[in-house]
Amino acid sequence: MSLIKDKINSENLPKHVAIIMDGNGRWAKSRGEKRTFGHKNAIDAVRNAINACNEINIPYLTLYTFSSENWNRPPEEVNALMSLLVETLLLEADEIFSKGLRMHVIGNIEKLPPLVKEQLLRVVELTKDNIKGNLVLALSYGSQNEILNAVKNISVDVKEGKVDIDSIDQKLFESYLYTKDFPPVDLLIRTSGEIRISNFLLWQIAYAELQFLDVLWPDFTKDIFFQCIVDYQNKERRYGLTGDQIKIQ
Ligand code: IPE
Ligand code: IPE
Ligand code: MG
Repeated sequence: MSLIKDKINSENLPKHVAIIMDGNGRWAKSRGEKRTFGHKNAIDAVRNAINACNEINIPYLTLYTFSSENWNRPPEEVNALMSLLVETLLLEADEIFSKGLRMHVIGNIEKLPPLVKEQLLRVVELTKDNIKGNLVLALSYGSQNEILNAVKNISVDVKEGKVDIDSIDQKLFESYLYTKDFPPVDLLIRTSGEIRISNFLLWQIAYAELQFLDVLWPDFTKDIFFQCIVDYQNKERRYGLTGDQIKIQ
């Protein structure tokens, strides 16, 4: 029973929610523990976000799980995160499948250890026919690189005569991004109190609503998620128009 959930208008749900899951290290530190303790305790929060989305039928959830810059963390922490990822995928694959979720991965997965890549691709394959919702993991992901790669690949196609320069528009450009099959982000949530984007989905959040929460990721609950949706629904998305124009529409 969630009273907050009852306040949600099912007619005005975001199609795509993206979350920057930040604050694991500080959560652990405040308990006198090592940073990796925070990562281990983040799994329940991930489950909460996935379940909350699934309960109210939000079709796309993208989770920023590991950034291209996170490779520069101490090797022990990177290794711990990679092991945790494999463990979690092994434990949760059936649950993801039985919820009807299709898993996708965006990012430079070639950089991931073979075992991580293998498990990821296994779950992607296992869930490929699911249609209830989409769970997108951004892993080894950096938005500037994604955009640069799109530019390079379009240039190659122009050079080879497959693309005419005059046909390069927003839609064509988006078809070269990792997110080509997903709708734009409607709501971006970041936990931990930091107000920054950290190289996440720069193109895709052009008109997203942004919410920065003073909650550390391991403390994230379903009710916090539902409250984010309620707050999202109280915003008027204007896309450059005036408030009066939006009311007439
Ligand atoms: C987010 O928590 C998890 C990853 C970036 C992998 P952090 O590890 O960044 O935690 P803080 O920000 O240091 O508290
Ligand atoms: C962003 O968090 C990346 C993920 C949550 C996976 P960081 O903790 O890496 O971001 P910065 O470095 O504080 O901006
Ligand atoms: Mg952080």
